[in-house]
Amino acid sequence: MKHLIAPSILAADFTRLGEEIEMVNQSEADWLHVDIMDGRFVPNISFGMFIVKAMKSVCQKPLDVHLMIVEPEKYIEQFREAGADVITVHYEACPHLHRAIQQIKATGAKAGVALNPHSSVSLLEDVLEDLDMVLLMSVNPGFGGQKFIYQTLPKVRKLHEMITTRNLSTLIEIDGGVGLQNAEALLQAGARVLVAGSSVFKAERPADVISQLKKIGENTLMV
Ligand code: DX5
Ligand code: ZN
Repeated sequence: MKHLIAPSILAADFTRLGEEIEMVNQSEADWLHVDIMDGRFVPNISFGMFIVKAMKSVCQKPLDVHLMIVEPEKYIEQFREAGADVITVHYEACPHLHRAIQQIKATGAKAGVALNPHSSVSLLEDVLEDLDMVLLMSVNPGFGGQKFIYQTLPKVRKLHEMITTRNLSTLIEIDGGVGLQNAEALLQAGARVLVAGSSVFKAERPADVISQLKKIGENTLMV
């Protein structure tokens, strides 16, 4: 399966949000990654469903909504109504993770679970069957523009093995510090969705970076 590229709108110029989303519409991007931060689960605040709804009205690509918030189960339906196509909650924020996953699926959205850098992929052993996607954080969540944590690579390999031995089609998404320098290694390890914030939006020609990220691995045998 060809990999997917999800530019992260957090790195966009918010004074030109409409234009930035139009760039994504016109690009080879597959999804738009949308980071929701509450100042409690992570030490930063981004925006809420009101802005997601506005983005949805102009975005032609599926919205990949990453909830970095405590008690995400309180807001799942509202984010779905605002236009989320994929909803990801954090393992570390959900004492009743199984219930939260079912809640996401009941809305009709695809369900993802995110793991912080310190959380082992083996924590998901008993819910993997229920998931459409696992998001591995390759930076500590809360800010764009951070340095990629290389320990993520063995985690991708291990998770990929867990998925293939169970014959599942769960997508592995990598989020944080992803760019042209590490995309190929991530894809070879088994990643299928690459989130790219700064590497895309801070580039001189963002659409070109998206298309380069999309082309990576074209001539390599993928796992
Ligand atoms: C970090 C967010 C990421 C962030 C990625 O907490 O979850 O999605 O926007 O940005 P870059 O690609 O700049 O690390
Ligand atoms: Zn994110």
